[in-house]
Amino acid sequence: MRPSRKFGQVTHRGPTPSDAALPPALPYPDGWSALAFTAELPRGTVLTRRLAGEDVVLYRQRDGRVRAVRPFCPHLGAHLGLAELDGNDLVCPFHRFAFGPDGRCVRTGYGTPPPKAALTHLPVLEVNDAVFVWRHHDGREPDWEIPAWHVLGNLPARYATWEMAGYAQDVMENSVDVGHFQTLHGWSQGELAAPVAFDGVTFHVSMRVQEQFPLIGRRQVDVEVDGHGLSCLHTDIHTPALGLKMCSLVLATQIAPGRMQFRQASRFLVAEPSSLPPALARTVGRSLTRLLAGPMFRFSCEFTAADFPIWSTKQYLSRPRLTAGDGPIGPFRRWSRQFYPPTATGPLPLPTTPLGGHQDAQATRTGHARP
Ligand code: FES
Ligand SMILES: [Fe+2]
Repeated sequence: MRPSRKFGQVTHRGPTPSDAALPPALPYPDGWSALAFTAELPRGTVLTRRLAGEDVVLYRQRDGRVRAVRPFCPHLGAHLGLAELDGNDLVCPFHRFAFGPDGRCVRTGYGTPPPKAALTHLPVLEVNDAVFVWRHHDGREPDWEIPAWHVLGNLPARYATWEMAGYAQDVMENSVDVGHFQTLHGWSQGELAAPVAFDGVTFHVSMRVQEQFPLIGRRQVDVEVDGHGLSCLHTDIHTPALGLKMCSLVLATQIAPGRMQFRQASRFLVAEPSSLPPALARTVGRSLTRLLAGPMFRFSCEFTAADFPIWSTKQYLSRPRLTAGDGPIGPFRRWSRQFYPPTATGPLPLPTTPLGGHQDAQATRTGHARP
């Protein structure tokens, strides 16, 4: 399966999801979900995206501020995905009622006094070149944020978006599923450098991988993963011997029961060789970065896509039979519960005994703490 060339969504064409006829195994998670990349939303743009079974209308005002609103005009219900921007005002196409930056109706298309009506704003966060919208099952306001990560290199990020059957939680769980990196992704050898640390709404995975490279043989690859909520991963992959660095944002958004959108944005850098004079080193580093950025992004997408047929057909097992060699699936499942309504305990029974070689993983659950 090839990623979309830019931002368009590619529907997964793999096997039919085996649980399509069943009720969803997991409810919608609370927290921030990515609905777009920043580059998809230039000033004056209006986009409609799905989140948790509903449309969300995103728009960027002429002053650069992004808004997220519920989709139906409070006048007579037209869909605001059809609206356009007039300065910083969103103008509904039906009767041309205009809504100001605070959401209130400021004029009508007839020149008559505007009614007391307003758009419903949703909390929106623009960070790391992506636009996130907050949703909580009981309407709670945001009490944590996704941090801004470093920007790697000078080249613009490369983006891809897919849509498929599956659960955002499985995407996050993937990063602690240590065993599958060898069995599914083909890593020759990899292990946790430290216990996976779960802290509030975040977790951190640190792995050391011994990978076989053509011509130069086995070299170490350092992998650092930060998870925030059930929708956002930041991964740093560094091969010191080759000076290769890749930094990716991996975003999973639950758009419907058992259906998600998956976004990836990556930046790539080849370090300047220290053995060369500075000017030459800079030229070599930049040239190799430009030359390899495309192939490395394709390689990274293909690596990720190995999981797609698994995610889109697997059954969520609330009591998995874990064993030595598995990652800390149990601690991850316990950590993930904070993002679901308490009443969801029915579909969310957990493995009672985290088995395998990672019982020492730190599992703390401190609620929606600000990281
Ligand atoms: S429905 Fe939006 S202006 Fe009438
Ligand atoms: Fe994977």
